[in-house]
Amino acid sequence: MALQSIRMTGAFGTSRVAPRASVLSQRSCRAARLVAYASAAKAPILPYRVGHGFDLHRLAEGYKLIIGGIDIPHTKGCEAHSDGDVLLHTVTDAILGALCLPDIGQLFPDTDPKWKGARSDIFLKEAVRLMDEKGYVLGNLDCTIIAQKPKLSPHKESIRNNLSALLSADPSVVNIKAKTHEKVDSIGEERSIGCHAVVMLIRKDLS
Ligand code: CDP
Ligand code: ZN
Repeated sequence: MALQSIRMTGAFGTSRVAPRASVLSQRSCRAARLVAYASAAKAPILPYRVGHGFDLHRLAEGYKLIIGGIDIPHTKGCEAHSDGDVLLHTVTDAILGALCLPDIGQLFPDTDPKWKGARSDIFLKEAVRLMDEKGYVLGNLDCTIIAQKPKLSPHKESIRNNLSALLSADPSVVNIKAKTHEKVDSIGEERSIGCHAVVMLIRKDLS
């Protein structure tokens, strides 16, 4: 059953149901048509999918600090079963989340010796493969790395370029931000590093 109308907010002030043709651009109409249900039991085919990812790793001496596949000079690195790349884990989970798939820990259990010391781009590439298989491409990605130290701004461009390449995406749709944690809690006390990401996927036939 195709949707007959779209619930609108913002342009109409309060939320209400408005006729599709009068409020949506031609492209949005096409997108809306894709939100179709073959039957009540089937999942909708969404034109856009949004996903959120979060990850946190303990920092310890004796580990390399790898963020977005880039080696960052620092006195500590992330403790992990894999290479501990907090950014790639976060983005992997954001993409899996957008696709409503199991999370990174379910797909690549840290109890499996196969993933010991594994490069995290393996996880991300699998998420990208699943995204492609399900008929989506990356719309845009916004990431925030939270680290008291080291200063990440000198590395942001190389992180962004490497991450974009892993995603087969143009760097203009990949954003990397960095924040301290104002010296409070484990991140602020340099005992851990965290990351958040939000991703939007677009159906291939709309991109
Ligand atoms: O000023 P505000 O509290 O918003 O941010 P902050 O956490 O004090 O960080 C200030 C700026 O430093 C950020 O805008 C980042 O660009 C940069 N930064 C960084 O390069 N590396 C970090 N590990 C943390 C922050
Ligand atoms: Zn992780």
